[in-house]
Amino acid sequence: MSSALMQNYGTRELKFDHGEGSYLFTKEGERYLDFGMGIAVNSLGHCNPKLIDALTLQSKRLWHTSNLYNIEAGEELAAKLVANTFADRVFFCNSGTEAIECGFKAIRRYFHDKGLSQRNRIISMTGAFHGRSLAAIASAANPAHCEGFIVGDPGFDQAEFGNIDSLKALISENTAAIVIEPVQGEGGITVASSKYLKAVRELCDSHDILLMFDEVQCGIARTGSLYAYQQLGVSPDLLASAKGLGGGFPIGACLAIEKVALALAPGSHGSTFGGNPLATAVGNAVLDELIDDIFLSNVRDMGAYFKKELELLVERFPTLLCEVRGLGLMLGLYCLTDAGQLIARLQNHKLLVVKAGANSIRLLPALNVSKEEVDSALEILTKALIEIENN
Ligand SMILES: Cc1ncc(COP(=O)(O)O)c(C=O)c1O
Repeated sequence: MSSALMQNYGTRELKFDHGEGSYLFTKEGERYLDFGMGIAVNSLGHCNPKLIDALTLQSKRLWHTSNLYNIEAGEELAAKLVANTFADRVFFCNSGTEAIECGFKAIRRYFHDKGLSQRNRIISMTGAFHGRSLAAIASAANPAHCEGFIVGDPGFDQAEFGNIDSLKALISENTAAIVIEPVQGEGGITVASSKYLKAVRELCDSHDILLMFDEVQCGIARTGSLYAYQQLGVSPDLLASAKGLGGGFPIGACLAIEKVALALAPGSHGSTFGGNPLATAVGNAVLDELIDDIFLSNVRDMGAYFKKELELLVERFPTLLCEVRGLGLMLGLYCLTDAGQLIARLQNHKLLVVKAGANSIRLLPALNVSKEEVDSALEILTKALIEIENN
């Protein structure tokens, strides 16, 4: 029977029935080791008991009231994010795209309120991904995502990721902000250097330009600090967060410093579901687990171990692999062989990973993944690479 769904995701054969920790299970009881985690969403693995408790408890009290009323769990989650980041204020929404959209709107309104409406252009980076709304695709400027969707000049310019001269050349009296993923995800895992981000920050400060980080994928402890910027040593003015924040429950957040947050005055922006009691109750439970030195140092240690072992695979298979990139448990394995073929073989051996960029695979295990699970993934990778080598 043909599907009633729109075909934007293509055909998907694999179907899961339930999940537990690092594993997904089919109805037939086949077990898959999940190192994609819903593309960095299930931060604490599948069906984490603490998240189930938080969701169950909240579901018995109150599901939804709208933002016409004060939402206790949302106040609490915002306060936690503010206490643990550069931000003074938080806006809650339901996805990464919406967090980006909120940031872009706040940026434009901020300059508009200062009487500088002509300062409305936002510079993004090559290889970026900021979501699938019109503004998000226009900003990232990936031709495959933009085709047939963008009309006119939507107000974005694009600099080369990591190249400060390319950025300098684009700055004009119309530049309002720069948006960067400190660790790029969809475009292929690439970490921005501290030196580059510091130079970007200086450029912003000297031109009164706002700096926005997109940490939708690299945030929420994925790299071993709550947000990646915290170990890269450069603070933004705005930050988009989502994915891992709800551990699988949809939530997004736009974080901002006070002067920018003030631009979103009452009535200027909103979301029916944003900051809903269920989503923010789960978000609180996620943050309570992550904001813990031992948890974060485990992510760093496990990430360092995994990266070192992947580098050994690159040495062992020099005709198939070329490089490992990434921070913490956000790792990219750059391939010389076809990444799609490797992913298919891994799936045959019951390991799930995600493609990134032109020819790399992303390894995004649960942040509480065990060493045994990392070793299992390495074993399967080795098996699949030997198969390809022998073919
Ligand atoms: C860096 C980044 N920004 C934004 C988004 C969009 O998030 P969402 O799909 O939740 O709208 C993504 C999603 O993959 C992302 O990786």
